[in-house]
Amino acid sequence: MNGRLISAYQNWFDSYVSGFNTNDPLLRANLDLKAAHTRRVCRSIVTMLASLGPMKVDRDLAFLAALFHDVGRFSQLQSYGTFNDSRSEDHAALGLKVLEESLVLEGLNEEDRRTICKAIQFHNKYEIPDGDPDFTLICRLLRDADKLDILGLITAHMQNRDETPNRALDFGLEDSSGISRSVLSDISECRMARIGAMKNLNDMRLMYISWTFDINFPLTLSLILENRYLDKLFRCLPAGSEREGIERHVASYIREKQKIWI
Ligand SMILES: [Fe+2]
Repeated sequence: MNGRLISAYQNWFDSYVSGFNTNDPLLRANLDLKAAHTRRVCRSIVTMLASLGPMKVDRDLAFLAALFHDVGRFSQLQSYGTFNDSRSEDHAALGLKVLEESLVLEGLNEEDRRTICKAIQFHNKYEIPDGDPDFTLICRLLRDADKLDILGLITAHMQNRDETPNRALDFGLEDSSGISRSVLSDISECRMARIGAMKNLNDMRLMYISWTFDINFPLTLSLILENRYLDKLFRCLPAGSEREGIERHVASYIREKQKIWI
């Protein structure tokens, strides 16, 4: 795929996004936030691809999966005003509908189109199914790049939510005390906490922290640590032995993972 074709896809994306007009300042901010998120995920996946060395991967397909992974977010925001799929629709499925109806991927062969669409379909799922190596690698790269950027966004939001509230990012959850048992249980088993199990913002903070357990590449983990996203999220949780215990557990998981990756 040549650079001109990639630019044409980027132009399509920009023009699709610019079609969403609103006078609602929060909706405008969230539409812009998702457009900026997409651009950063595209940049991040390029950096991650460069770090893979000679590993065989179709770099253009990985880039296009990043470019289109959240294309469903814009209609989701406009129709429902939330990022919460369970209170609206699965934004990956919405995005696939947008891509299908627009015929934007028609220029690709069927196999490439299938790989991109499957990576988009599973970028936001709890786990990815076994599949061909192209899909698996691209989907893992996309999930890492996506998580890395969302962790940056959420960390900033959690630190500033009093000054700049954003109910779409909070999923309508209260900043009440306590942590749900099922969230704690998933974390103790080194699993991602389930979005559906979140009962308050503490659960949400921990759910994002638990993404650590689903990071696929050493570079992503290094960048999460370098930017201190986990530390910052932990600082937003109530102080106490429960928080300290979880911090120690996550730190120990990271140490073990880094040992394996060396
Ligand atoms: Fe997404």
